[in-house]
Amino acid sequence: MVWHAPTPTATETMVIGPRITVHPGVLSGELTVPGDKSVGHRALILGALVGHPVHVTNVPRSADVAATARALRTLGAEITLDEAGTGLDGQVTGPLREASDVLGCGNSGTALRLLSGVVAGIDGMAVLSGDDSLRRRPVDRVAVPLRAMGAEVLARSDRFPPLVVRGGGLVGTSYDSPVASAQVKSCVLIAGLAAEGTTVVRSPAPSRDHTERMLAHLGVAVSTSVTDVEEVSVAAGPLRAAPLVVPGDLSSAAFWWVGAAIAGTSVTVSEVGVNPRRVGVLRALEEMGATVSVRARREVSGESTADVTVTGRALARAEIRGQATVDAIDELPVLALAGAMSEDGLEVRDAAELRVKESDRIDALAAAFRNLGLDLQARPDGFRVPGGQRPRGGIVDAAGDHRIAMTAAIAGTVATDPVTVVGADVIATSYPTFLEDLRALGGRVQVQETGR
Ligand code: S3P
Repeated sequence: MVWHAPTPTATETMVIGPRITVHPGVLSGELTVPGDKSVGHRALILGALVGHPVHVTNVPRSADVAATARALRTLGAEITLDEAGTGLDGQVTGPLREASDVLGCGNSGTALRLLSGVVAGIDGMAVLSGDDSLRRRPVDRVAVPLRAMGAEVLARSDRFPPLVVRGGGLVGTSYDSPVASAQVKSCVLIAGLAAEGTTVVRSPAPSRDHTERMLAHLGVAVSTSVTDVEEVSVAAGPLRAAPLVVPGDLSSAAFWWVGAAIAGTSVTVSEVGVNPRRVGVLRALEEMGATVSVRARREVSGESTADVTVTGRALARAEIRGQATVDAIDELPVLALAGAMSEDGLEVRDAAELRVKESDRIDALAAAFRNLGLDLQARPDGFRVPGGQRPRGGIVDAAGDHRIAMTAAIAGTVATDPVTVVGADVIATSYPTFLEDLRALGGRVQVQETGR
């Protein structure tokens, strides 16, 4: 069967009903998780820039990556993907040309920011937009460097989507990003592939380097140096066709690892990506006292994978700040749960970026925790969670944010009473098989198809 990117409301989102109830029951066992969302976007986008057919393996069936596939087809790419194991295998073929319609990015900040770099390099105009949540997320962070490279870029209130880009005729620039964002860095590097001369992006700290690794795998000269800032440069040039394999998603695995850490059990996730700029969650769990074992390291398309086991013990205090915050940015919500159940709590600093994710994750987390009887003190750039707490069960609104919904579901596995997540269907944006995997690890969950 040929897989055509469904709309975010099609089949995958129906697997997870809008209301789920997770009953107490500890998680343990071994599993593989679907392909990495960040790498999946890049496999399709960079694959489409090659100009020859590129074979892709283990692309996640997430609605976010489906949005990227749809947008690339609107830009003229041919993408055929077939169901294969936990993901999709197939072929991506460029070249890309002026978009024939609006590029709908759904809920995905990565799709919007990376694709804006793509269209800046194409002669013609493009409009990028997305759902309510995405239209509240800042795009001035990509508009500024793309303008410096010669693209014309307009945004609503000069800050939010829709974004209108007139691309072509780019010239390499040297851009100092005020945020350590892999989306911004990747947008500029992708535009740099179509620019005259060299393009340099400097960031206040190193962020995930999936784009750099995949570009190198595709034969592009990218160089990185890290001093007090991270500096990455790329020159225009052809990309060479090479197969792209997507590793398991560490950000999905994190829910099961934290589930094991707080229950005092063991969960092994096999063949999961362990990019050094993503493994902050493992470092934090280790600092808190969990045992982390990393085995069977392998290289796939420039990324490392491994089989990773987390075994829970009594958890102690942890503090996450600076580089550790960047390296665990998407896992901070579920780590907050580990903090609440540790002896002395968790302190998270330098995480103001959480306020501009799929929700204001600091406020959404505080609200979710409140409904489960957990104390979390919100700060402008993070939060503090006192230790010695246990969720008591209750109803949590996902706030349109997949990571808040999954954090609440994991809380349900260790709560005194069941936890109901309202708006849980948003989980399909990153992890459509979350409920199957929860069940496979011994979790007990009921799904309601209706009733927000
Ligand atoms: C991502 C980068 C991070 C991360 C997001 C995915 C990426 O965002 O939070 O989920 O794929 O490049 P920022 O680049 O905004 O930090």
